[in-house]
Amino acid sequence: MCGIIAYIGKHRAAPIIVEGLKRLEYRGYDSAGLAAQQNGRLVVIKKAGRVDRLAQEEAEHPLSATSGIGHTRWATHGAVTDANAHPHLSSDGKFALIHNGVIENYAQMKTFLLGKGFTFKSETDTEVLCNLIAYHYAKEDAAAGPSVRFLESVRKTLRHVEGTYGIAALCVEAPNEIVAARKASPLILGVGEAEYLIASDASALVGRTQNVVYLKDGEIVHLTPKAFTITTLDQADVSPVMDRITWSVADAELGTYEHFMEKEIFEQPLALENSMRGRFSEDGSTAQFGGLNLTAGDFAQVDRFMFCACGSAWHACLVAEHLIERFARLPVEVDYASEFRYRNSPLGRSTLFFVMSQSGETIDTLAALREAKRKGYRVLAINNSVGSTIARESDGGIFQHVGPEIGVASTKAFTSQLMIGAMVALYVARMRDMSFADGVQYVNALKGAPDLVRRVLAQAPHIRDIARRYAASSDFLFLGRLSLFPIALEGALKLKEISYIHAEGYPAAEMKHGPIALISEKCPSVVLAPKGELFNKIVSSIQELKARKGPIIAVTTEGSEIPAGLADAVISIPDCHEAVLPIVAAIPVQLLSYYIAVERGCDVDKPRNLAKSVTVE
Ligand code: M6R
Repeated sequence: MCGIIAYIGKHRAAPIIVEGLKRLEYRGYDSAGLAAQQNGRLVVIKKAGRVDRLAQEEAEHPLSATSGIGHTRWATHGAVTDANAHPHLSSDGKFALIHNGVIENYAQMKTFLLGKGFTFKSETDTEVLCNLIAYHYAKEDAAAGPSVRFLESVRKTLRHVEGTYGIAALCVEAPNEIVAARKASPLILGVGEAEYLIASDASALVGRTQNVVYLKDGEIVHLTPKAFTITTLDQADVSPVMDRITWSVADAELGTYEHFMEKEIFEQPLALENSMRGRFSEDGSTAQFGGLNLTAGDFAQVDRFMFCACGSAWHACLVAEHLIERFARLPVEVDYASEFRYRNSPLGRSTLFFVMSQSGETIDTLAALREAKRKGYRVLAINNSVGSTIARESDGGIFQHVGPEIGVASTKAFTSQLMIGAMVALYVARMRDMSFADGVQYVNALKGAPDLVRRVLAQAPHIRDIARRYAASSDFLFLGRLSLFPIALEGALKLKEISYIHAEGYPAAEMKHGPIALISEKCPSVVLAPKGELFNKIVSSIQELKARKGPIIAVTTEGSEIPAGLADAVISIPDCHEAVLPIVAAIPVQLLSYYIAVERGCDVDKPRNLAKSVTVE
């Protein structure tokens, strides 16, 4: 949730940190701060509010240090104030600390430290951790030297911690050194030209280096300008495994777009192509995946699928459920990861477990994965972040390959998850009853999806006009059936998260069992009404809404006849295969939500109270 960056090298650290924080801001944007050593003491600049305020402050009081740490916050402990912003200093001023995560036993530690005379300026768990480092440092043998004492005091502190952390620390007595560590919160070491960086996210590193080491839980890295070492909490040495970030700095920049969400909506045709690339069999009748680490024989044993995810990824799982059950005739269960981890649901020995997560760091999804593994299941991950914790801990999986998604509202990652779900359905269906001819037709339909998405995107000006007409509404219903019910849920989620309009997604026919009470001329309904066997039934639902004066925005297949006067606005989508329909239908609801939020003057990429990846429970 929070963004962390640290720099050590030969350049002035503060501007590099500020630049990194700007790229990390989508992870949390309540407040921002940095710390570096100046004239023999640790100086902290921190402010509630956006990184720009910090940048301004630093420009007025430049820090010359060539190492430092920076943080952008999504508040957990304590309100959004300057005092609660990171970095935090220990009460003796010897340590500065930034932290992403939650220290669960911080209250006991704080009581202990208060008893030892430590003082606190904030309400955060991080300040407690920082003071605990100072406490252990004072107890270390002075003869060992500040470098060793610094590292060991962090190590000892972390052994007492219950909870999650990605941290980076400075010590005034070990100037030009940084110690960083992680447990369940992401942390990456960037290895540059005579410089090192630590970041919670690759997007903060790409401007300076593509060479990275993904740190693992329980690892501590000790940096000087010339070298780094990685050890564990038990003092074992770790041999670093070097990786490369495959995307470039342009992927993480706005270019000519106004918002990342807009950029990512329009990137979807390309994103879908990237998710499909190299993943169809030579005979063009099925999907193939390189990283499943399961044989066709293993798959043949599977009699049930279980999917766990959160938010938009959960909606994508619901679509996958529909397609797998429809085409492969295998039962699928979908659960919220946050519920699954505590539900102790009976799975059955032949269940194949999937988690879906764009970031690969969502803590609830990670916990569901670990719970399933603990019970002895093999877990596959559909994931967009190579090197993420979920990617590393799963037994195999499918990478989305859509590049970084920066907008807090998921768009291109979501449709890519729909695409991969559709490909999994095909893969399993072809192992079972689906014929070669139907497989070829399915594959061709998937290959055509990017062009169909382009056709819907071309309607953006029309959708913007509709958005302007309804932007002042305070309630919305999104209705759909079968595979478009999850798209109705997704439309409602998109709208509420970026425009703060109350919205609900419902199966269209279920609407009359309660939500219809909301309907008035002030509550528009977005009705997903594609042609097909349920078209007339959806039209009946529209009639019921219209009879109660509810404005109707209908999303329907080109050439379908919504009776005259029934819909107040119509958005057409091209006729397409059932497996592609959810992808194509997702585009209008994304654009509608986006333009409504813009019309209302909302901060689309940084909606209030949210953060891109939810790494706390
Ligand atoms: O990174 P993940 O896919 O695990 O994230 C899951 C949700 O937090 C995410 O989809 C969230 O709901 C988005 N803000 C939706 O737009």
